Amino acid sequence: MNRKIAVYPGSFDPITFGHLDIINRALKIFDEVIIAVSRNERKSPMFSVNERVDLIKSVVGDIPRAKVDTFDGLLVDYVRTRKAQAIIRGLRAISDFEYELQMAQTNRSISKDVETVFLMTSVFYSFLSSSIVKEVSSMNGPVDGLVPLVVKKALDAKFNR
Ligand code: PNS
Repeated sequence: MNRKIAVYPGSFDPITFGHLDIINRALKIFDEVIIAVSRNERKSPMFSVNERVDLIKSVVGDIPRAKVDTFDGLLVDYVRTRKAQAIIRGLRAISDFEYELQMAQTNRSISKDVETVFLMTSVFYSFLSSSIVKEVSSMNGPVDGLVPLVVKKALDAKFNR
């Protein structure tokens, strides 16, 4: 039987409950979801690639159908090497749409056989982003409902607390 595999790419700097919500919902549609951390350092991330991978693994490690990996270069090339059929992206609000549409159309123009599947982020997490989490944490604000405990601890360590 043909296993349905999806790649969920992103910076994950760091992973939040919003990402986890998308992962859990994607697992209801696909047999396997590969969480693929971009090695592209364009955004000067707070956490190294290895730190981001370790944080994701400690959060999804118990889910057998969720895999964690890294990629660089073109996303569609990576998707092909993993024999995946789809790219998963979460949409929080209209403001996400323009960038996501551009990315999906670009990917489709390069590779006709990879589909992008958009999942609407749960309303509860619609305001949430890794950047917001880093900002709140940098000012010692509460991030308990926004990220798993292991991520909160990693943020505390980054801010020397
Ligand atoms: O979490 P992010 O930062 O919104 O993720 C963006 C990401 C990593 C998915 C995107 O930048 C990407 O796919 N980069 C790989 C390079 C690529 O394939 N570019 C062409 C499509 S725009």
